Amino acid sequence: TTTYTISLLGFGGVNRALAELITQRNDEWQRDFGFRLVIVGVSDLALGSIIAPGGIDARVLTQTDFGRGGFAALSGGSADPRSLDVVRDAPADIVVEATYTDAITGEPALSHCRAALAAGRHVVTTNKGPVALAARALTAEAAREGLRFDYEGSVMSGTPVLRLARQALAGSGITGFKGILNGTSNFILGRMEAGLDFAAALSEAQAAGYAEADPTADVEGHDVRLKVVILANELLGADLAPSQVDCSGITALTPADIATVVSNGQRWKLIGSASRQTDGRVEARVSAECLPVTHPLTGVSGAVNAVTFTTQMLGDVTITGPGAGRIETAYALLSDIIALHRDRTAQMHQEAAE
Ligand code: HSE
Repeated sequence: TTTYTISLLGFGGVNRALAELITQRNDEWQRDFGFRLVIVGVSDLALGSIIAPGGIDARVLTQTDFGRGGFAALSGGSADPRSLDVVRDAPADIVVEATYTDAITGEPALSHCRAALAAGRHVVTTNKGPVALAARALTAEAAREGLRFDYEGSVMSGTPVLRLARQALAGSGITGFKGILNGTSNFILGRMEAGLDFAAALSEAQAAGYAEADPTADVEGHDVRLKVVILANELLGADLAPSQVDCSGITALTPADIATVVSNGQRWKLIGSASRQTDGRVEARVSAECLPVTHPLTGVSGAVNAVTFTTQMLGDVTITGPGAGRIETAYALLSDIIALHRDRTAQMHQEAAE
């Protein structure tokens, strides 16, 4: 059995859910994959930091109420000093970054990822900012040090859209995609079809816990824009910065706009899309689109995400699943750790054979 020591940066919903999974499933992971996870560091604005080289009892951690985190307070600035202490001093194989990402700067998550790689630790993150702004640089930095930088949860939470595209669809010739990449706005559009006004629909989405701390990012398309950049850069070989992608949201749609099209079987959806043009350029955008009844994304309802890939070999391929949620996002972290473990196991076998 391999034991991976991990540090949790941020102890909000996602990393708390990962700690819960550890208490419930470490034995199962040991049996099925051959590894266990031991938490040796935690940082959070509300909790401060804990460094425990011998391991922290995950059960005690999950049962402690630290109050609300508050990484948003750091958004304009850079790293949280307590997180940097944990990165440096907790003897973790893997740093699990789940703090907060400012849409413009990617902070504080971006600095945390950089610091963790510089300290020789693998990084798994669910934060969109560092990935949208610097995936290539961080991946290259990790590779130089023989480390991994993984981020399945940055798009569609645990729904494996990146691994599907990268691995299962390898060689299929992906030329573009269209996605519903924000659960909050999709939920709101559905509730407005049912007759609610925008404000009431948004309140319901917030009560259900889908919305970002500041829901502007959800309804103005900024959250989708980061996800479009992540997918376009990774899957279409683009080199886009978020600011280069035209972006509008759903706030200009009236209940009447939304109701009018439903009788024709059409629906308004907030769509993030990108496609490779014949000259090789990648064009990407975020905007509300009125989709026809025949489109695979038209039937996607509620706080759900979906992406339809256009491929040369298979035509359209669509993946649908959750795009948010604490367990769903924590699962993305687990899937990144499983990938890391498989990679290391393969490397060890190769070294043994040489
Ligand atoms: N707030 C986002 C959504 C989830 O509503 O889909 C995280 O990106």
